[in-house]
Amino acid sequence: MTQDEEEFDPELVDVSVRIEREGQDGYNALRSLWVEITYDDDDADGPKPIGGMNGWITLNPDSPDLADAGDCVGHDAMVLTAAAAAISQKHSRYWLGLLIDRFWLDETWRGRRLTGRIVDQVLDLLQRDRDEAVVVLVPEPQQLGGGGPYPDGPERDQAKARLEAAYKTAGFRRWKKSSVWWLAK
Ligand SMILES: CC(C)(COP(=O)(O)OP(=O)(O)OC[C@H]1O[C@@H](n2cnc3c(N)ncnc32)[C@H](O)[C@@H]1OP(=O)(O)O)[C@@H](O)C(=O)NCCC(=O)NCCS
Repeated sequence: MTQDEEEFDPELVDVSVRIEREGQDGYNALRSLWVEITYDDDDADGPKPIGGMNGWITLNPDSPDLADAGDCVGHDAMVLTAAAAAISQKHSRYWLGLLIDRFWLDETWRGRRLTGRIVDQVLDLLQRDRDEAVVVLVPEPQQLGGGGPYPDGPERDQAKARLEAAYKTAGFRRWKKSSVWWLAK
C-alpha cells in the first residue's frame, strides 16, 4: 500500500479500542488496552488498519496500589505504573492513566509525526483530554521485521534520537532521569 504524501490527511487517522481485564493484576487496578489505528479515506473497503498500540489504562492513576499491580503484570508494566503513580501524585488529580507498552505503524505510514493525533484520538474515545490524563511510554525503537529492540550501537542511537524528537513534538517529556516519558501538561 502506498499513500501519496499530497493526499494524506491526518484528520482521517482514527482509532478503535478494546479493553479487557488484566489477568495478572492482583489489585484490580489495571485494564489491558488494545488500540487499532485506521485511516479512512472513503475507500469502498472502509477504514484501513495502519497500526496499533497496546498497554494498560487505569481510572485511579494516583492509587497507592498501582505500582504493585504493575509489578504483578511484569517489568514493563512496573516501570510504567511506577512513573504514572509518581506523576499523578506530584501533579494534579488525573482521571485516567494511559500506559503505552507497544506502539507501531505499518512501515509506509511512518515518518508523518502521528503520535500526538493518535494519543488524542485514544483519549477522546475514552472521553478525556490531555489535561485529565497521565500518559506514559518508554521510547524504544524496534527493528523492522519484528526483530525486537535494536542492539546497542549507532543505529539504535540514531533511531532513538529520531523517535524521541517525534515524541517531543507530540508533547512528551522525559520523567525525571527515568526511561519513561510523559505527556506533560
Ligand atoms: C513509534 C511510531 C508509531 C511513532 O509514529 P510517529 O509519531 O508518526 O513518528 P514517525 O514515524 O514520524 O517517526 C519519527 C522519526 O523516528 C524514526 N523512527 C521511528 N521508529 C523508528 C525505528 N523503529 N527505527 C528507526 N527509525 C525510527 C522515523 O523514521 C522518523 O524519522 P525522521 O525523523 O527521519 O522522519 C512509528 O515511528 C513506528 O511505528 N515506529 C516503528 C515501531 C517502533 O519502533 N515502535 C517503538 C515504540 S516506543
